[in-house]
Amino acid sequence: MTTTTDTTAPAPTGKAVETVLDARGVTMRFGGLTAVRDVDLTVNSGEIVGLIGPNGAGKTTFFNCLTGLYIPTEGEVRYKGTVLPPKSFKVTAAGIARTFQNIRLFSNMTVLENVLVGRHTRTKEGLWSALLRGPGFHKAEAASRARAMELLEFVGLANKAEHLSRNLPYGEQRKLEIARALASEPGLLLLDEPTAGMNPQETRAAEELIFAIRDQGIAVLVIEHDMRFIFNLCDRVACLVQGQKLIEGTASVVQSDERVIAAYLGEPFEAAPGDEEAAEVAAAEKRAAEAATEETGGTKEAAGTGATAAPGTAEAPSGAAPADDTPATPADTTTPDDDTTPKATAPGDDTTPSSGPRKENDA
Ligand SMILES: Nc1ncnc2c1ncn2[C@@H]1O[C@H](COP(=O)(O)OP(=O)(O)OP(=O)(O)O)[C@@H](O)[C@H]1O
Ligand SMILES: [Mg+2]
Repeated sequence: MTTTTDTTAPAPTGKAVETVLDARGVTMRFGGLTAVRDVDLTVNSGEIVGLIGPNGAGKTTFFNCLTGLYIPTEGEVRYKGTVLPPKSFKVTAAGIARTFQNIRLFSNMTVLENVLVGRHTRTKEGLWSALLRGPGFHKAEAASRARAMELLEFVGLANKAEHLSRNLPYGEQRKLEIARALASEPGLLLLDEPTAGMNPQETRAAEELIFAIRDQGIAVLVIEHDMRFIFNLCDRVACLVQGQKLIEGTASVVQSDERVIAAYLGEPFEAAPGDEEAAEVAAAEKRAAEAATEETGGTKEAAGTGATAAPGTAEAPSGAAPADDTPATPADTTTPDDDTTPKATAPGDDTTPSSGPRKENDA
């Protein structure tokens, strides 16, 4: 497969460029399905990198491989030169924070409490200190609350600090997830569809917020289906199709690539990258159908159920507890993907500026 790589763009800050994330040869298989295949991706300091691709392309699975929720079948992920431990709380402690495609907040906690939870990897006070509630604990707690309020101010939710998170409108819940992720003081922030369900004004504000995060020295890797948002925001964009990286480059290179347009419009490729995977999926479905037929003594309905059951993702439904402390493995991911976020908007459709990408707020 041909990939176009442009990694020469200088960091906007003018500081020495450091490779923050270095993923090499990342492959994730679920039985017969290869959701991510041999993907290389780097994110440098000062960069906002976009990850696009049609539904089911493997974007969220790739994020799960980066954050320790999945252990990649093959490949290696380094953060600032060090191979990441395969546990999500350790990945967070190392410096990578994320938000989820299906929002995960503690719905019965206040907005402020949700951000405080995000600070636990940065709080040094131990169990005894917390139980005894000594001066060290009170000092640390006051500092945590001050920082949490600062972050709520930053995302524009300070006036809702005492509200229950479940009462926030959808767009504000997404902002709260970002504040909680920032509370772990990351060097890299991964955002999985941060504007899904937002109206155009909220999307615009989210764009500004992400620029501001970048300007604070945090590198960003963002998945989004909204092409205008991606091409306005990102220094580089990589496109995944059927688990493979089809192309990577500047916004203008990627948005004018015919294969990317074809992927979004669902047209067949020449030299389609999916033939092999399609054969694998067909074989896996056939095996599942045969197994189900054997188990149930050959009833047609059971065979159909086994063959068509959609695999879930590791993500819990909206409102479930954040998963940073509940690492999942492919084996325990039976939750169906209830995601109802808007689907892909094609480059060149009415959400894409006809005059090409505008790079705003670029330091
Ligand atoms: N835990 C799992 N077990 C089995 N298959 C899975 C699992 N998680 C994801 N998949 C499959 O991997 C493929 C990629 O899914 P993924 O959720 O990563 O796609 P995506 O690019 O994030 O799509 P979307 O844009 O719809 O969010 C899909 O075919 C999906 O069904
Ligand atoms: Mg996804």
